[in-house]
Amino acid sequence: MTDKKAIVIFGATGDLAQSMLFPSLYFLDADGFLPADLTIIGTSRSRHSDAEFAKQIHDSLAKRTAPYFSEEVWARFAPRLHYCPGDAQRDEVYKALAGLLKQAAEIVFHLATSPDFFGPIARHLKAAGLAHKRARIAVEKPLGHDLASSVKIETALEEAFTEDRIFRVDHYLGKETVQNLLALRFANTLFEPLWNKDSIEHVQITVAETLGAGGRWSYYDSYGALRDVVQNHLLQLLCLIAMEPPANLQPDSVRNEKVKVLHSLRPITANEVEQQTVRGQYTKGFTEDGAVPGYTEERDGGQSDTETFVALSAHIDNWRWAGVPFYLRTGKRMATRNTQIVVQFRPVPHSIFSRRGLMANRLTIRLQPEEEISLSLMNKTPSLEQDGMQLKPLSLNLSLIDAFKKTRRRIAYERLMLGALSGSQILFVRRDETEAAWAWIDAIAEGWKQRDMKPLPYAAGTSGPSAAYVLTERNGQTWYD
Ligand code: BG6
Repeated sequence: MTDKKAIVIFGATGDLAQSMLFPSLYFLDADGFLPADLTIIGTSRSRHSDAEFAKQIHDSLAKRTAPYFSEEVWARFAPRLHYCPGDAQRDEVYKALAGLLKQAAEIVFHLATSPDFFGPIARHLKAAGLAHKRARIAVEKPLGHDLASSVKIETALEEAFTEDRIFRVDHYLGKETVQNLLALRFANTLFEPLWNKDSIEHVQITVAETLGAGGRWSYYDSYGALRDVVQNHLLQLLCLIAMEPPANLQPDSVRNEKVKVLHSLRPITANEVEQQTVRGQYTKGFTEDGAVPGYTEERDGGQSDTETFVALSAHIDNWRWAGVPFYLRTGKRMATRNTQIVVQFRPVPHSIFSRRGLMANRLTIRLQPEEEISLSLMNKTPSLEQDGMQLKPLSLNLSLIDAFKKTRRRIAYERLMLGALSGSQILFVRRDETEAAWAWIDAIAEGWKQRDMKPLPYAAGTSGPSAAYVLTERNGQTWYD
């Protein structure tokens, strides 16, 4: 092999690699972003030859990248592919990889495996001489199960790779709208003067999915929604909304600001968990697809105390956000797929209009199912009313789909894999961010344990336990769905 660059995917036949990583690489190739000399090596335990592996990737891409799949691009993509079967816990596979990578000067090892393998793989790579100065490692969230296990993994990673060569993936950071948060906040003068406790009443961030744990049950059951989504995606979104303006777009300028937010999060301890958090678990119910089983029935009908829903109210103890609740919510098997950030502004301080119909401004940043930003403003309704004006909230809408119609919606991983290949860490999480997030999450998990807080049941296809509504209504606020 005479290639100069390589990407090695561990867990190459698994769901993440097949559904996200290979399609992303394929699209990057289609759009001309992959270096001509890039080789892609898949490794996993399944026994395949190069040809069998290529055939499997071909068939999977044809399905997953439809309607964009083209045999012409495939003809360019296929020769890049190689397969190296083996157990990532044994030396043999690394010997084989070292052979394949002999002439690769620059390598990205992307670990699409369970976090349990991160440490052992890093150690083996080092022992095989593959963790050299121009090799990088990309690891998926959640990095561990709690702070202690995360530190253990990080220590193993850092024994093999320096921090500037460790790429911690949170795929939310690769999403277009998440990137756009930086533009919205820092490329406009409109919002920044209002972006604080004086004008903002509260913020709510929701990641709601209609899918259940399904085929990922065995992973999911030992993590739950708190570790699977709150620790990473939700806290990253919160950081981007709440952080101070960075000095520039250098990775560390942005990450320094994000980590300050995480350090300012007020801990939710055992004394507060019952008031400030809600755990839920879906039971059988109905979704758009018809009747669906409950979480525990999805695998052997076994009992489980794992939460598939979390709602909580967080506080950021700093000057900008003192007293402003940040409500975070995530759940599986919810009524609709909806990922959004709502910034609720305060009501006018004195109204010259009748209070009827008067609503405070609201900025909604929707990430899924469609990407759009809307700002609700009060307007006069056209009429000849004699007893005062009639008002109605209308939305100023910025539909990213309509504005950029011709652009294919990219998979978040395209941006991330390109970042790892070019060595840019702006879209990746730094160790201190992960650890600050874990410290905050651990306190909640410990609180749940101490108070024996079991998940509340909610029927699949609904908006989660009603206690989640009590959480906001206690402060006179409500979730926007
Ligand atoms: C993953 C979680 O990180 O994010 C999944 O492990 C979740 O459980 C997924 O379904 C949600 O991502 P997205 O991009 O579909 O909102």
